[in-house]
Formats: sequence, C-alpha cells, structure tokens
Amino acid sequence: MKRLVEEVGRIFGDVGLGQFQLSLTLPIERGDYLTVVDEIHGKVLCQLDDLKRKSDLDLEHAGALMPSEETPIRESLLGAARIVGYRDAQGLVKIPSIPFRPGAHVFRAEEPLIADVLGLKHHANSGAYVGLLRNHNLRVELDINQLVQRHVSVLAKTGGGKSYLLGVLIEELLRHKVTCVIIDPHGEYGSLRIPAEKNGGHDRFGVESQGFARQIQEYSPDVSLNPSAKPLTFNLRTTDPRDLLVFMGLTNVKTFLAPLKQIMENVAASNPDYTVHDLVRAAEAGEGAVAETLHERLEYVEQTKLLGPQGTSLNDLVKKGDATLINLRGVAPDVQELVVARLATTLFENRKKDKIPPLFLVLEEAHNFAPQQGSATCSRILKNIASEGRKFGLGLCAVTQRAARIDKTVLSQCNTQLILQVTNPLDLRAIAQSIEGLTPGMTEMIQSLPVGVALVTGGGYHTPLFCEVRPRATRHGGESVQIVAN
Ligand SMILES: Nc1ncnc2c1ncn2[C@@H]1O[C@H](COP(=O)(O)OP(=O)(O)O)[C@@H](O)[C@H]1O
Ligand SMILES: [Mg+2]
Repeated sequence: MKRLVEEVGRIFGDVGLGQFQLSLTLPIERGDYLTVVDEIHGKVLCQLDDLKRKSDLDLEHAGALMPSEETPIRESLLGAARIVGYRDAQGLVKIPSIPFRPGAHVFRAEEPLIADVLGLKHHANSGAYVGLLRNHNLRVELDINQLVQRHVSVLAKTGGGKSYLLGVLIEELLRHKVTCVIIDPHGEYGSLRIPAEKNGGHDRFGVESQGFARQIQEYSPDVSLNPSAKPLTFNLRTTDPRDLLVFMGLTNVKTFLAPLKQIMENVAASNPDYTVHDLVRAAEAGEGAVAETLHERLEYVEQTKLLGPQGTSLNDLVKKGDATLINLRGVAPDVQELVVARLATTLFENRKKDKIPPLFLVLEEAHNFAPQQGSATCSRILKNIASEGRKFGLGLCAVTQRAARIDKTVLSQCNTQLILQVTNPLDLRAIAQSIEGLTPGMTEMIQSLPVGVALVTGGGYHTPLFCEVRPRATRHGGESVQIVAN
C-alpha cells in the first residue's frame, strides 16, 4: 500500500510535548500514523489518538429545525495526536524537546518512517511473525527471546480470537524450534498438525499452509475421550495422601485424610511397589461409610489410570523443539488443576537443573488455574513461574477472557501483551492498570477492535501497536459449535 505524501491537516491551539491537536482536511482513522517535520530533528512519527467533529449547531437550533430543513452548518474535523518520536543518531527513539509550531503541516506517515521508528524489521532467526501493522504491509514480528524470557499474556473476550492468535504464535515457535508445553483444556490445538485449507485470501500476508504433525506430541489424562493422545500418568510413589484425595474428588480432608493415609501406609509396609489396585483392595476390606466411600473413589482413580508405578517419563513428555499438548478435554476441573500443578512443578524443578530444554509453558483459561480470588491447587507454582521462571528459561503464556479474574502477580509479570477485543469494564480496567504506555484512546479502541486485530505491547517494541493477525498456516481448532444450522 504505497501512499503519496499527503497533507492531512494543520496543528492548532496549545501544543504539548507529547501530544497536539490538529484540524483535519482529510478524514483519517483513529490509530493512523502521521508525520510532522520538526525544524531540528526532521520527520517525527505521530499517531492519531482521537477524533471529533465540531460544529456551530447548538441544541436549541437543532431542536428548532424542521424535518427536511437544510441549514448551513459550520463544522470542522478535529484530531488529537500523540507523538511517537524519531530515531536519533544512536538509533534511540526520542521525542523532540521543543513543541511543534502551531500551524505546522501534518502529513500521512510513509511506511519507511513508520517501520524505522516503530522498529518493524524482519528477523529471520528470532522473529515470530504474528501479522501486519494495521492498514499497512509492514510485518509485525515479536522477539522470541523476549517472549520466552519475559512472559506473554493473550487477553480478549470469548470469541475474540485468543485461540486463533495463540495458534499463530505456536506455529511461529515451532518454525523456530522452540520447545512448548501447552495446557489445552478444550483439546483445540491438535489441529496444529493439519495444514489450513487454502482460501485464496492469504496473499497480503504471504502465509503458506503447513502442518506441524512431526513436531506435536499429545498427552491426556483421559485417553478414552481423547484417543489421539498418549496417556499422561503420574508416579504413585511420589503422590502423597492429600494429592490422592484431589485425584479422588474428595474435598472433605478432615474426614478422609487420616483413614486414607492409614491405608497407604499399611499397603506400602507389605508391598513397596504397590499399585492403585492394591489400595482399592485394602479399602474394600475396611468397614463403615468412610471406608466405603474411599473404596468407591479409589476404584474411580484406578479407572482414570492417572497414577501408575512409574508415571510418564519427562524425557518423553518434553522433546526439544517440539510442542507437547496436554489435552484436558473432559477432565474434571479439580483433576485439571492437579495435573497442571504436578506438571508445572516438575517442569520448573527440572528446568532449574537444566535437565530439560528452555521452554514456553502455555496456559489456556489461565484465570481458572491462577485465579485472583479463591485458590486453585496450581496457583502457587504458577505464581512462582511468573515471577522467577525467566531466570531459568521457563517462559509463561497466560491466556484468559477474564483479565480481572486472573492473579495480578501473574498478569503484571507478562511483559508482552496481545490484546484483542475486550468489552467488560472490569477487565478493561485490569488491562489499563497492568500496561504501561496505553493511552485512553487505545483503551477505548480495545472495546471495538474487529476480530483479527490485536493491540501488541512489548514483544521488543517500545510503543503499543495495532496488528492484523496473520492467517493460520494450520487449521484452527476452536471453531464455535453451531447449535442451530444456518
Ligand atoms: N485473525 C483471525 N482471522 C480470521 N478469523 C478469526 C481470527 N481470529 C479469530 N477468528 C475466528 O473467530 C472465532 C473465535 O476465535 P477464537 O480464537 O476461537 O476465540 P477465543 O479463543 O478468544 O474464544 C473463530 O471461529 C475464528 O475462526
Ligand atoms: Mg479459545
């Protein structure tokens, strides 16, 4: 989209150091990039943050107008722009220290200036290509080292395009051979194996269909529901009675913990290599209502096959350069939490000892696993990873539709945010509070973003920018279920 240098208006009124007002002679959109030529520094990049049509028609006169009456109205289009800056001789982005002159010409910004000031460059080795700068043909690439070292959040309301964008991000990580573990509560990401159907609309983005079947491992605690997955099991020997109660779905710790502990100790005393089946038999021999419940719930645990003598080997689970899907579809919420807690703890411990490669842990529905209020079994380890993971090369990507409900420690530790449409005022407030450099105009724009446009902050960029998410190379697995046929 090459554009001629176009004058769009003039600066007027009081001019600040960070922002100015302009009267517009051409209609431009909020978020568009502009240029003002500074006497000392040359072309400076600016961005339209707000627009208003001003008129001399007041309420009284408008009310007195007849339905078909034409009346001469004096009106003008006013804009408020923020100054993004210019690159100095050292390559740093600076803002002029003297305000622009009132009356100065404002032009539509040319792409080379936009690319230079925003820092939009192609990085073959370290760039995750997530889309194009809105209304331009400039690639937005996120710095992969920053993503993994400084954590990411993906925020949007339901249906806002989080899973689609996350799919784009995972495709990029796989292309760059970054090891990922993806907590997939809905079993949506198996479709990363399958190339997207060609739809002809990919040209502008230059995305080729491609599947990643060879780089995807899938594990699930429930392989009967998720037959494409290998069983994910945990070592019974390292499961203490309290953990086992969670697997059993028993919350009444007071009643059940002591008798269960007794059973486990008795069984272990006679057979150190005991199985869940041995526990079932021991519970069966007991008498009374408590023993009966324990027996019944242990039978359930045996059926889930979650606990084995060995458990899934970590070296099978995490393979360098591959993505491991932890498919939790159909798994009860408390068991999901336990699986995440055990898994995240193991990953963190082994990452500290460098026994597994640096990796990126993706957490869908993060507000359930690290809630701001109440607690989940896995909250604590996730908070630890959010605050200390970077030191050990364990990156976290938290995905949520409820920014207000996710733990604030986790949210504030995410230095790259990918924000799609959010309308809930509480979630918007949580976002505005956790992100630096967000203008009121941007916060307003988040409420009306079309599907497929994301506000990107961090990721190697010094200023927030709007990005049209690129099409998927693989099939998107999170299509909404149609209840009634069209
Ligand atoms: N960038 C995009 N381009 C095209 N379609 C998209 C894009 N993002 C989302 N969609 C569509 O919007 C719908 C909702 O997206 P999804 O990622 O599943 O939402 P969320 O995970 O936020 O609930 C999907 O049907 C998907 O096909
Ligand atoms: Mg989703």
